[in-house]
Amino acid sequence: MFKIGILVSGGGSNLQAIIDRIEDGTLKDCQIVSVVSSNPEAYALERASKHGIPGLCIPRKGYADSKAYGEALAAHFDALQVDLIVLAGFLTILDAAFVEKYKGRMINVHPSLIPSFCGPGFYGLRPHIAALEYGVKVTGATVHYVDPEVDAGPIIAQKAVYVQEGDTPEVLQRRVMEEAEWKILPEAIGKISQAHIGG
Ligand code: GAR
Repeated sequence: MFKIGILVSGGGSNLQAIIDRIEDGTLKDCQIVSVVSSNPEAYALERASKHGIPGLCIPRKGYADSKAYGEALAAHFDALQVDLIVLAGFLTILDAAFVEKYKGRMINVHPSLIPSFCGPGFYGLRPHIAALEYGVKVTGATVHYVDPEVDAGPIIAQKAVYVQEGDTPEVLQRRVMEEAEWKILPEAIGKISQAHIGG
């Protein structure tokens, strides 16, 4: 089994997309061994528990600095011997040492076509607000390996989504999730896990 640890902060719809593809057999030989939230209220934790997946909250507030927080996350994921960490709507900036430790073994989904509308401050609804303000006609989502720089690192997959007349940030966010994020994130995990198992 290819062991996956998932970091979340909110609703967890991307986590749900991964769970659904494992349960319907599209994502083979994969197991989510832990869902860790930075936020105790995250609905993502409820989604994990509904599917019998161990979930816990490791709040950033509980640690003196991001280095100590990264060490706590690493201790947790190391103990579980995870093969891949997935940032699925994880909104806390990670310490460089943690990122370095999991280099090539940690991926992120971002709701824009990187290098547009990304980097510090561009999370959640903000990339969509910025896309509408700029007036782009096409946006989308990106899955990439995580580098110490925010929203940087080798791109694994991207999918374009059309902006439509009258879109609000919320409507555009939902379309980008449905048409792009929920597809390319499980697909990227499938590719990485099959390469790992096959190699
Ligand atoms: C998703 O749109 C994800 O791409 C974004 O947060 C949302 C989380 O939704 N992540 C970022 O902005 C990271 N830079 P979810 O909790 O329903 O998966």
